[in-house]
Amino acid sequence: HPSNPQMGENPSLRAADCRAKGGAAGFKVAILGAAGGIGQPLAMLMKMNPLVSVLHLYDVVNAPGVTADISHMDTGAVVRGFLGQQQLESALTGMDLVIIPAGVPRKPGMTRDDLFNINAGIVRTLCEGITKSCPNALVNLISNPVNSTVPIAAEVFKKAGIYDPKKLLGVTMLDVVRANTFVAEVLGLDPREVSVPVVGGHAGVTILPLLSQVKPPCSFTPEETEFLTKRIQDGGTEVVQAKAGAGSATLSMAYAAVKFADACLRGLRGDAGIVECAFVASQVTELPFFASKVRLGRGGAEEVYQLGPLNEYERVGLEKAKKELATSIQKGVSFIKK
Ligand code: NAD
Ligand code: LMR
Repeated sequence: HPSNPQMGENPSLRAADCRAKGGAAGFKVAILGAAGGIGQPLAMLMKMNPLVSVLHLYDVVNAPGVTADISHMDTGAVVRGFLGQQQLESALTGMDLVIIPAGVPRKPGMTRDDLFNINAGIVRTLCEGITKSCPNALVNLISNPVNSTVPIAAEVFKKAGIYDPKKLLGVTMLDVVRANTFVAEVLGLDPREVSVPVVGGHAGVTILPLLSQVKPPCSFTPEETEFLTKRIQDGGTEVVQAKAGAGSATLSMAYAAVKFADACLRGLRGDAGIVECAFVASQVTELPFFASKVRLGRGGAEEVYQLGPLNEYERVGLEKAKKELATSIQKGVSFIKK
């Protein structure tokens, strides 16, 4: 492969190329921002996923190093690296799923919205690449602020005439993963047995855990509800502060991203009953985008579920969430339309 230095003269890599071309089973997945704090463990975990036959690792720095490293893992996926914007097109050609964790992370004292000025442009460029090279791919967007970057991606896709709302998914899985963990701690349960729907968006008060809908069914005191809701909403900030300037959640995020990507791939394969929360184009509220449970299928987010019955605490939270979300969505849309 011309864009992969270590592919050079090594004959064993031709076998890998044959494997990639001939493998009937398996999906082609690209990670954009693959050399970053999330990108590296995400690349490692995707290389371990048996549903992946080809894994493309793209970044503006250090992609060859990460690729060489990951490619020595004796799992099925063939790994190829792509460095810099001139290789974006080759990185994306033929991909079924594109996962985007490219962009700068927060430092203590910053909100996710403070990342807008840098990350909006990065997401625009990467999504323009998708319109040219893999317009039918499913997109999992991780780069913050998700509440604005998803609308940015939608506008780029609309401009190019390729927008399919079912195929653009903002990744809010980390909120669900945290909610499951924190609720399990309070209830004294194994987190693997707990399922908490988290709706709204992915920043502060827009993160709305629906504790009245936790499975297995359980009840919380008002103090527990307040504590858990705040901890889930501030989970990202908890990590940013603990890392003290060295970035935000990367390992738990890579885990959550792979959990979500795996669900998307099982949906693409045609598995039934795959339901996860994601930030998608939505008619669940008056807002054009909203996170809620979605059913993942061959076409992406094939069904977006209603919120179900909310208690008074959640209804108040929903109004706050919608107010902030409306502004963040509008900011993303205007970035492309202006
Ligand atoms: P990082 O700085 O460690 O890594 C980001 C990577 O993106 C770097 O390798 C960088 O070179 C690369 N990059 C920068 N510009 C690029 C471009 N134009 N094309 C391709 N790659 C480019 O940051 P991180 O900790 O991995 O976080 C990445 C993003 O994910 C941040 O915006 C962060 O806020 C966000 N995030 C989202 C969630 C979520 O739940 N959705 C969770 C954690 C972090
Ligand atoms: C998170 O929730 O951990 C991410 O959105 C990163 C951040 O800035 O908090």
